[in-house]
Amino acid sequence: MNKKTRVAVFVSGSGTNLQAIIDANIPNVEIVVVVSNNPNAYAIERAKRHNIPVEVIDHRNYSSREEFEREIIKKLEPYRVDLIVLAGFMRILSPFFVRAYKNRIMNIHPALLPAFPGVNAVRQALSYGVKYTGCTVHFVDEGVDTGPIILQSVVPVYDDDTEEKLLERIHKEEHRIYPEAIRLFAEGKLHIEGRRVFIRD
Ligand code: GRF
Repeated sequence: MNKKTRVAVFVSGSGTNLQAIIDANIPNVEIVVVVSNNPNAYAIERAKRHNIPVEVIDHRNYSSREEFEREIIKKLEPYRVDLIVLAGFMRILSPFFVRAYKNRIMNIHPALLPAFPGVNAVRQALSYGVKYTGCTVHFVDEGVDTGPIILQSVVPVYDDDTEEKLLERIHKEEHRIYPEAIRLFAEGKLHIEGRRVFIRD
């Protein structure tokens, strides 16, 4: 039998992506821990409901980013994690952390990168006036939303869109492509060459 891919999901908020990943029941993937920097994140309830261990590491209790990240690394150790999945995790990870899990951290961003990186991507897309936006799953490198792109999905922008309506349409796609990207990783099909990610058997 193939070895299971052991996944840690990092959250800060509502956790709809976490829910989608749980519900996808990806073969040979086990969510071994959910890490939250926010003790009040609703995502924590979702994890508990599915008996997934939760580690709350509140960044406000640490005097520096590095100290906070050292604690995460220490807490993760016993879980022997193969892949970290950022799902609405609202802390930027420093190069120190990214190097510790090189090419083993994924993020999802609610825009078609490299357009509209950073916070409020949906608002940025609406006010820019683009006709299409979407979402991007990418590996995390040392920049913000700059790593090699794994999957993207395009979402149209309609004339009567509000931020909420557009976000809802984007979320639907996020919930489809994030589990798909994790499945591809677990199957060993993602090959990074420079900035490009190739999907191969
Ligand atoms: C998503 O829109 C994702 O693109 C962004 O944060 C949001 C998380 O939502 N990185 P949820 O907590 O998974 O509902």
